[in-house]
Amino acid sequence: MSAETDATTDVLVVGSGVAGCAAALAAARAGQDVLLVTKAERPKDATSWWAQGGVAVSRADAEGFKRDVIAASDGAADPEAVDVLVENANDAVEDVLVETLDVPFDTDENGDDAFAYGREAAHGERRILHVNASTGRHVLGPFLSCLDDHPNVTIREDTAALELLTREGRVHGAMVESDGVLEPVCAGATVLATGGIGALYDRSTNPAGATGDGIAMAALAGADVTDMEFVQFHPTAYAGEEPFLLSEAVRGEGALLRNADVSESHSEARKTESPGGERFMPEYHPDAELAPRDVVARAVANERDRTGDVVLDVSPLDFEAEFPDLAAKCDERGVDFRTGIAVSPAEHFVCGGIDVDSQGRTSLDRLFAVGECSRTGVHGANRLASTSLLEGLVWGLRAGQAVAADDASPVVVEAPDLRDSDPALPEAFAEEKFDRLRRTMDEYVGLARTPDGLRRASAAVRRLKGEVDAYVRTRTSRELYELRAATVTALLIVRAASENDESRGCHHLVDESADTTDAGEESEEREVHAGRP
Ligand code: SIN
Repeated sequence: MSAETDATTDVLVVGSGVAGCAAALAAARAGQDVLLVTKAERPKDATSWWAQGGVAVSRADAEGFKRDVIAASDGAADPEAVDVLVENANDAVEDVLVETLDVPFDTDENGDDAFAYGREAAHGERRILHVNASTGRHVLGPFLSCLDDHPNVTIREDTAALELLTREGRVHGAMVESDGVLEPVCAGATVLATGGIGALYDRSTNPAGATGDGIAMAALAGADVTDMEFVQFHPTAYAGEEPFLLSEAVRGEGALLRNADVSESHSEARKTESPGGERFMPEYHPDAELAPRDVVARAVANERDRTGDVVLDVSPLDFEAEFPDLAAKCDERGVDFRTGIAVSPAEHFVCGGIDVDSQGRTSLDRLFAVGECSRTGVHGANRLASTSLLEGLVWGLRAGQAVAADDASPVVVEAPDLRDSDPALPEAFAEEKFDRLRRTMDEYVGLARTPDGLRRASAAVRRLKGEVDAYVRTRTSRELYELRAATVTALLIVRAASENDESRGCHHLVDESADTTDAGEESEEREVHAGRP
């Protein structure tokens, strides 16, 4: 690979999901020149595109919204960050999503153009704006078009950031790669908006490119990274090959979870009326199917282990009428939703990330982070549904405004000497290492963890990282850097999980000597969850 001449910009944004777009928009509106680089080749490659449920807003009861965020977080959210989220929600949504982008949020059936607010798990009221169950694409499509038209914004697709440019504790941009060509981009401020970590797990609701790039780049540059043990699994992803998400909104409208137990007490009529077997969630939590996501995900996994299957029973609602896009997806995939949709948990969101303040500032000067790669403190140990697009929007705008207020000039710094002196990677190198990484993360750092499993994961990921680092010294391919990002991020998760001996939210520790499907364990779990706020 060759390095090209230096490019400079006021603001470099890395990532093209809602958070990156919001940061770019706010900085551009304030007169900054913005270069947005994204390794995405199509809008669909950003996780925001895949978001189904929607955007939670504050209605009559803002304090209730805050309480719900904190309760879902297992009491671990930072109340000040939650205030920032909730108190800025409506203005951000009104300004950007409604007035600027004209997102076609669903309206109610009275013909009065009032929004139809959806309900999802752990929300005390209907407060979710949505476009059917495909909200992400209806937000991101117009957002990218709006930035495309903005005179202060340049978007470069299929362009990956490989490493941050740093000097004396300051970040001055990033080394980017496009079509095999390396280029230092020097910026007055750099905003990381690279999304999540789905590629670290076999089953994920994220696109394949979610390799933890921003988290790893920031950590390698010395930024603080926090709460990485809190990896959230969505309870209802299709259980077959190529899982797809079945939004929590479906349970919000009345769908039920059933295991494969069809006891003798079931009448023949009951068996044919409702797909699947016993409804189990009431035994795990008083809010049943609308319990916090971590609770439902563990219950689904437990019931699958115990009885062999769990299905999402959509018979209590008119699924085709209420969720036409999900019904069409099922049809497309040959899944008959009338007999219940087989579901199992899949990695969905990392609640931790690059530590930031209320304006997205990281611990490194001139480096900001927004969206899933950041840790604002809003999500604590478990994120409340439909707060991720909102968080990305609110923090993206705030970071863009802060960047513009700093108005730092770009400084041209020496680019790191990324070597590409050896032949191409061995065939299937990255694929094979990714497979190993996923197997390790699935086995030891999934929904339930043990100290021994975490020790094994730590050894395996360290070994893998050593092998990858040896190649990074002499090669610069994008897939190798993605693999490095994934192994660094995995190590951060494993380390955080190993250092935290408190079982909370998504970080669920089980007793190594216990059988996790044992009834005694199960009832203890129910008690713990039932006692949660
Ligand atoms: C969903 O639609 O269930 C996902 C919403 C979210 O992750 O916030």
